[in-house]
Amino acid sequence: MKVRKAVFPVAGLGTRFLPATKALPKEMLPVVDIPLIQYAVEEALNSGIEQIIFVTGRGKTALENHFDRSVELENILKSKNKEDTLKVVEAIVPETGTIIYTRQNEPLGLGHAIWCARDVVGDEPFAVLLADDLIKSKEPVLKQMLQRFNRLRASMVAVMEVAKEETNKYGIIDGKDIEDNVVDIQALIEKPDPESAPSNLAAIGRYILTPEIFNILGEKKRGAGNEIQLTDAMEILLKKQPVFGYRFDGTRFDCGDKAGFLMANIAFAMERDDLAPQIKEFFK
Ligand code: G1P
Repeated sequence: MKVRKAVFPVAGLGTRFLPATKALPKEMLPVVDIPLIQYAVEEALNSGIEQIIFVTGRGKTALENHFDRSVELENILKSKNKEDTLKVVEAIVPETGTIIYTRQNEPLGLGHAIWCARDVVGDEPFAVLLADDLIKSKEPVLKQMLQRFNRLRASMVAVMEVAKEETNKYGIIDGKDIEDNVVDIQALIEKPDPESAPSNLAAIGRYILTPEIFNILGEKKRGAGNEIQLTDAMEILLKKQPVFGYRFDGTRFDCGDKAGFLMANIAFAMERDDLAPQIKEFFK
């Protein structure tokens, strides 16, 4: 069955970016002039995803408004003959009915957020995108993964090597490289200390999951940080069916981290003809 649906957990509080995120959802922080969530939604749609599922929470209405029409703004832009800006604003909005919102009413972790989408996803494989992980690539990373999924028909997570001392920030993978950037995963562990980490191969925020994950998440077992972890559910899933890692082609920016976010801004600005010359001059 084709992967048609993508889940975006967007209920997080964004405490690492306070005070900026006191009234603004962290997913609305812009890299240059595009909010993080828009990059992720565009990646999904450009990969062939047909339905966007936001698992949202209190204080996140800016996200809903961002993907809806703003007739007042459109009228003002029209009256001022700002046709180019109007096109940019109109292009954000997917066809009506494409986005479905559900809420996570308690901050119980990433696994719990995904479980909140169980009835909207139903009994079919689906994708998960974490907007904090912004990936610059020629071909959308989710599209790269879907190509492998269509052949392997098993759950899959994007992976990359991280510094050994940073394993406690990620889900870490123990696995064997099999073919074509694909890793056969033997074990997954959420945020292990560098001393106990089985490797420095980390899960990055792009997943394709089979629906069996929902039953496991429904058991609501607590893991690292006393949260219901997606990584732990995948560790249980791989006892029943294969789970693969995919070494993606692209540069990933950790936009949940201030330094990573600033680096993303610089990297994306340097690709823009209207900005690159000034940025280069400033660095000189
Ligand atoms: C989450 C996952 C973790 C993964 C990471 C990727 O952690 O729990 O396994 O490695 O995303 O960004 P978080 O960054 O939400 O703490």
